[in-house]
Amino acid sequence: MSALLDVPAELQPVQAQLTAFLLRVEEQIQHALASDLPPVHRLVRHVERYRGKMVRPTLVGVTGLAAGATELSSDHVKVAAVCEMIHLATLVHDDVLDEADTRRRASTVNALHGNETAVILGDYLISAAYTLCSTLDTNEAALVIGQTGMTLCSGELLQLHHRENFSLDEPTYYEIVRRKTASLIAAACRLGASATLRRSPSPAGPQPADLVARVEAFGLDIGVAFQIQDDLLDLTGEQSVVGKSVGKDVEKGKLTLPLIHHLTTADAPQRGRSLVLLDDASISPAQRTRALVTAMSGTDSIAFAQAQALRLIRRAQAAIEPLPPTPARQMLHLMAEAVVSRAF
Ligand code: IPE
Ligand code: IPE
Ligand code: MG
Ligand code: MG
Repeated sequence: MSALLDVPAELQPVQAQLTAFLLRVEEQIQHALASDLPPVHRLVRHVERYRGKMVRPTLVGVTGLAAGATELSSDHVKVAAVCEMIHLATLVHDDVLDEADTRRRASTVNALHGNETAVILGDYLISAAYTLCSTLDTNEAALVIGQTGMTLCSGELLQLHHRENFSLDEPTYYEIVRRKTASLIAAACRLGASATLRRSPSPAGPQPADLVARVEAFGLDIGVAFQIQDDLLDLTGEQSVVGKSVGKDVEKGKLTLPLIHHLTTADAPQRGRSLVLLDDASISPAQRTRALVTAMSGTDSIAFAQAQALRLIRRAQAAIEPLPPTPARQMLHLMAEAVVSRAF
């Protein structure tokens, strides 16, 4: 993700360090997923080839540096690869649930090879992540990743439970998002910092436990904001820019923050019209989404969701303020900003 940032001159050395780090992470992922079976190898190559924004591995690297590392170690590389593989697995599975055909500007595994293959390939990715995790000489990462996997899946299950629930409230939306998305982003931040502190436990600035808690809180807040932005892009973005299927949330009966706000603040007649639209099978999902976005302008619901995401970004930036004032901390600050300004 740092590659997407327009960084000032003083951050260019950190950015170069991160670019080199991400190459090591990609090699590690390739190594961890390699299969002796050509058909399996081809599938793995498909998901590896299409690179995403690499938000989670980048966060492992930047928090590692922000915690005092001068060089990123092989532990950082492994932890970053683990986080990205867990993320990849959730995407491969999520595209089955959402019946999505485009991801990272390419066809999804389910579109190309069917749901059965996508389900098992996701399991393969998770298993590879756990295998790599257990090669670290501490069990902290395995524990955090195991717990995060459970949190993430419970978020997805809660979301499924509330499908077509048109009275979904904000606290439940936040609960879903904290679990399904922010938990892994927070884990990446935590594990990046602790991979540094394990080797050099006394950095300048806050005590190690405080530092880890701060980057984790940072990750949780930017993670929620990240999903709010993703949900906004699903409503208002263009597939050609976003690079993945859009309009899926309305199609799948997933209420997201702008719609929840709209349905709770619209007057009764408008609320009634919007509820009819949500369920209107006579128009295509894309038309339904467009009509709802138009209706939402009457309640300023897009602006409301943007303001909520920005509030979380400011809180995240405040959480890392007591860290030593390094270029890495500045990079975290910029990355937080990019979460809400991104168009894909
Ligand atoms: C997509 O994550 C799924 C969400 C949590 C919203 P990303 O937007 O990080 O996807 P990639 O890795 O860049 O493709
Ligand atoms: C994020 O939700 C799903 C995961 C955390 C796996 P979405 O369903 O909004 O993700 P995208 O938009 O398909 O990437
Ligand atoms: Mg999806
Ligand atoms: Mg989405």
